[in-house]
Amino acid sequence: MTTKKILVNTGGGDAPGLNAVIRAVTLSAVNLGWEVWGIREGYRGILAPDEFPDGGLVPLTKDTVRGITHRGGTILGTTNRGNPLKFPVQNDAGEWEEVNRCDELTAFFKENKFDTLVAIGGDGSLTIADEIGRRSGINVIGVPKTIDNDLEGTIATFGFDTAIDFATECIDRLHTTASSHNRIMVVEVMGRYAGWIALFAGLAGTADAILIPEIPFDINKVVGKCNDRVANNRNFSIVVVGEGAKPIGGEISVIGKNVGQAERLGGVGQQVAHALEELTGQETRCVVLGHLLRGGSPTTRDRMLSLRFGTAAVRAIQDGVQNVMVALDPPNIAYIPLNEIAGKMKQVPLDGDAILTARSMGICLGD
Ligand code: F6P
Repeated sequence: MTTKKILVNTGGGDAPGLNAVIRAVTLSAVNLGWEVWGIREGYRGILAPDEFPDGGLVPLTKDTVRGITHRGGTILGTTNRGNPLKFPVQNDAGEWEEVNRCDELTAFFKENKFDTLVAIGGDGSLTIADEIGRRSGINVIGVPKTIDNDLEGTIATFGFDTAIDFATECIDRLHTTASSHNRIMVVEVMGRYAGWIALFAGLAGTADAILIPEIPFDINKVVGKCNDRVANNRNFSIVVVGEGAKPIGGEISVIGKNVGQAERLGGVGQQVAHALEELTGQETRCVVLGHLLRGGSPTTRDRMLSLRFGTAAVRAIQDGVQNVMVALDPPNIAYIPLNEIAGKMKQVPLDGDAILTARSMGICLGD
């Protein structure tokens, strides 16, 4: 039996199901007699070892992954300041700059005789992993993680189901308070440049209007929808807004961007709420669900997907498959070449069934 030494990392924003993947990879690899190690906080455990007094790597064994399938977050920790290709480093003048530290990673893999990296990440992390694989020659197996569900090549990412489940529950709860106060409630949800969370939770939660990045909105269309409802004795409205939504001819609302990190989105919910209050005269409140969508225990569906992805990643290594992402292709798990999905984003198709469902039901999409 060929023995293997594999490294696991979790990078970018956390998502419910990460621990289930870690457990699935570990148990299936250990059962084959392989050695498994986890990197703390993305690649920082290797590139910034001084930050980890107990060591930047964690041995992953049957003991260390016991009882974690249902736990949110990641036992390895994660960061969005760990991109080895654009690693934030402070220069002598105290300014932050982005430095490519891929060669150090390559040297580390070689010195420590790791042959495979299991990179559990979203579009950013898997694009980085693809580049690391090509530059270092290490085999990289990607596992698609993100609450945003915006990864190409897979029907679903783990984390999405938990996020929409919770967002739907929140929207359900807002109905009674909105109706009691005759208010418009605007709910801003995460999702970056894709509207999967807003659309699915908005539909399931019976929103009256859903604004997503894929369809730039005309605020007057939303005003018309809210006013029509009042005219029909529906004294409240629920408007779900994806954080990347933007008005026709306008810009996405960005909070800021730090060196070595992706831009942070947010604020569009408040802008929409302001405009609606002014233009309808109806009292309006804005709720931002934000990181609540990333927290908590994974749903059963996300646990299953994570366990299937994790074990499939190890089967890929066992079968000698190189540089792929495991992907949901019902009823199977498929292997998609990493370079086919790197740098790509999956937005909501405008002619897809979810959009048609919203339109058929008379939900305002802002266009
Ligand atoms: O990609 C996942 C995600 O939660 C996005 O929906 C959101 O824009 C971003 O991460 C927030 O990241 P941070 O943890 O840096 O606030």
